[in-house]
Amino acid sequence: MTQRTLVLLKPDAVRRGLTGEIISRIERKAGWQITALELRTLERATLEQHYAEHVGKPFYEPLVEFMSSGPVVALIVEGERVVEGVRALAGPTDPIAAAPGSIRGDYGVIVRENLIHASDSEESAEREVKIFFPGRA
Ligand code: PPS
Repeated sequence: MTQRTLVLLKPDAVRRGLTGEIISRIERKAGWQITALELRTLERATLEQHYAEHVGKPFYEPLVEFMSSGPVVALIVEGERVVEGVRALAGPTDPIAAAPGSIRGDYGVIVRENLIHASDSEESAEREVKIFFPGRA
């Protein structure tokens, strides 16, 4: 089942020089391909669109502020079961609950700075690809 997903390497991953390591983990999965990749600093308007479902939650403002605090790396990854697969590589939201071997489990400590975003469903992936790579919609 070939899918695509939208991945963001968050400002903490860029600041800490972990983008190469994280991209390498994605690239090593058999049959997955990175089909778009861009370093960019996100406008608040883009983040408001991306995180629209979380408006009003206690973490919304800190999340938007953090995600605009420095450049991110945005990617489209395509391949077999890639939506579920990248989220499995990432581990759960709270890095302390994430197993060693996962990206968050290996490199994260606090919830806000959890290194990576990955679309949570095929529907979300299509919506998010349109936001970050409108030419690829
Ligand atoms: S929910 O309510 O279950 O849908 O939330 P969740 O999927 O766990 O998280 C949604 C996004 O919010 C981020 N998040 C936070 N950011 C900053 N501070 C706190 N405390 C916090 N809690 C959750 C979380 O990393 C998700 O962002 P993305 O970019 O999707 O990973």
